[in-house]
Amino acid sequence: MVIQLEHIDTFAKEILDEARGLGPIGRAAVVFLSGDLGAGKTTTVQAMGKILGIKEDITSPTFVILKKYEIDRDMFGGRFEYLIHIDAYRLKSFTELQKIKFENYAEDEKNLIIVEWPEMVKDEKLVGDIGVRFEYGDKEGERKVELTKFDKSSSVIDFLNTFFIITDFFK
Ligand SMILES: Nc1ncnc2c1ncn2[C@@H]1O[C@H](COP(=O)(O)OP(=O)(O)O)[C@@H](O)[C@H]1O
Ligand SMILES: [Mg+2]
Repeated sequence: MVIQLEHIDTFAKEILDEARGLGPIGRAAVVFLSGDLGAGKTTTVQAMGKILGIKEDITSPTFVILKKYEIDRDMFGGRFEYLIHIDAYRLKSFTELQKIKFENYAEDEKNLIIVEWPEMVKDEKLVGDIGVRFEYGDKEGERKVELTKFDKSSSVIDFLNTFFIITDFFK
């Protein structure tokens, strides 16, 4: 699907609807956002933040790796209490995710976890429910996006295989 970045709110809502539609799964909902630098991953998370009534500015967690935001209970049906925003760009292994307590966050059903650059942590233990692939479009502000909802939770490796983007660079 081709979208305009200026209309990213509609797409952000679509991802959130899919996440909520998973229903209670006994652990956090995990969404992978994949695609080149500047493709619109962080912009999408910022749009989600607005929809979820998050008051703070959402900034890229490139250096801190993980940021946690409280979701307004009165927004979006109260399904999630916290948005956990992870930028895995600087990570090299699942162990590094464990160091920042990823598994504790993943255990909690009230968390919505969004992972940018999941391809940096190619490990079966990194499991997600929804994957989004962003690509640059032909015109400025235009992006090609593809959303996949996994039937059962899938590892990041399955997700990457879906989009055939395991390049030599990431091997
Ligand atoms: N409405 C818009 N129209 C055109 N460009 C936009 C718009 N919103 C954001 N951008 C640009 O798109 C890029 C998206 O960056 P970002 O979301 O940080 O990407 P990523 O997190 O995927 O690296 C930025 O360069 C930003 O300036
Ligand atoms: Mg980003």
